[in-house]
Amino acid sequence: MDTNYLKQIFKDKFGEGGRLFASPGRINIIGEHTDYNGGFVLPGAIDKALYCCIRPNGTAQVRAYAPDENPKTVAVNSTFGLQEADKPKERWAQYIFGVCREMIKKGATVEGFDIVVSGDVPLGAGMSSSAALESCVGFALNTIFNLGFDLFALAKIGQATEHNYVGVKCGIMDQFASCFGKEGSLIRLDCRSLEYEYFPFAPQGYTLVLINTRVTHMLGNEYNERRESCERVVSAIARKHPEVKFLRDANLGMLKEVVGIVSSVDYIRSEFVIEEIQRLLDTCEYLKQGDYEAAGREMYETHTGLSMKYTVSCPELDFLNEKAKEHGVTGSRVMGGGFGGCTINLVKDELLENFLSKTTAAYEKIFNIKPEVYRVAIKNGAREL
Ligand code: GLA
Repeated sequence: MDTNYLKQIFKDKFGEGGRLFASPGRINIIGEHTDYNGGFVLPGAIDKALYCCIRPNGTAQVRAYAPDENPKTVAVNSTFGLQEADKPKERWAQYIFGVCREMIKKGATVEGFDIVVSGDVPLGAGMSSSAALESCVGFALNTIFNLGFDLFALAKIGQATEHNYVGVKCGIMDQFASCFGKEGSLIRLDCRSLEYEYFPFAPQGYTLVLINTRVTHMLGNEYNERRESCERVVSAIARKHPEVKFLRDANLGMLKEVVGIVSSVDYIRSEFVIEEIQRLLDTCEYLKQGDYEAAGREMYETHTGLSMKYTVSCPELDFLNEKAKEHGVTGSRVMGGGFGGCTINLVKDELLENFLSKTTAAYEKIFNIKPEVYRVAIKNGAREL
């Protein structure tokens, strides 16, 4: 993205002195819907980010501007105060407001500021554009007002923004990846203890590529319902096994003990989660050994589980997954929360061009939508430019 353009817009609108910040979107190799279950995830930050140009304005107001919003459908300007009652009506501005409020609730002194936001993380594509915005604004405010939050605190502020100002009861993966990303490395995060380990990832002879169905879906109720299913099953298991606080602490044997006590939908969703946590651990071992074919088989298993058991796929994603299989792609699955967005594909270099051209053409023919393809580069997390 041309950040000079962003700086120029800031200057035209608000004057000199704006500082530029960036925070990226993310991929996740495996470990989906495991974060809010205390399990593991394996994300990496990417070369697509949300950017802001920002400067304190000496008032008690925030003046925000999003030049890329469609002016016909959304107000691009948003001015709001920092009290709880001042929540702006524009959705994109609510993320900025939420971050400010969460910081203030933690005792920080956030004053008025001017901000221009823009970015190249596709919206609603499962690449965490919202977390990127929260992390970007959080990192920027922390810097310009010298608030002293560490990166974990910033990630949690972003997550709390989703919970309290957007209504998505998400886990910590996206905000964590956006804050902690490191060039060339995935991050294995234990979402129960919050311990993490960088995992160098540069598979020789393979390319990681995302295919965007362009079915966009903002996460909301369907996501929250799945989290509630998991929580109900944890309560049922904990009656006999009080040490179980998350599905991470349970195993399939314990789950079997609550057959007939929990609903079949809750049961099957929880089965997916328990299996997925194990799949991630197995995949990390395969990656350490450089066995990408075995890792890829786990990715396919994840897709099947997300589609059949967790039911967060859609015909477009299933189609792309089938095509990947047909073309001998090493691993492929729906990525992120689901219900639309991208598949992530680990593809042998010699198969890549043929796979992409055939698959995108077939997809377009059937669904009448031109899918987008992104080759993934793993980059650094939140930063000042
Ligand atoms: C969304 C949420 C994350 C995570 C994924 C699914 O991206 O924001 O916390 O739960 O879905 O793995």
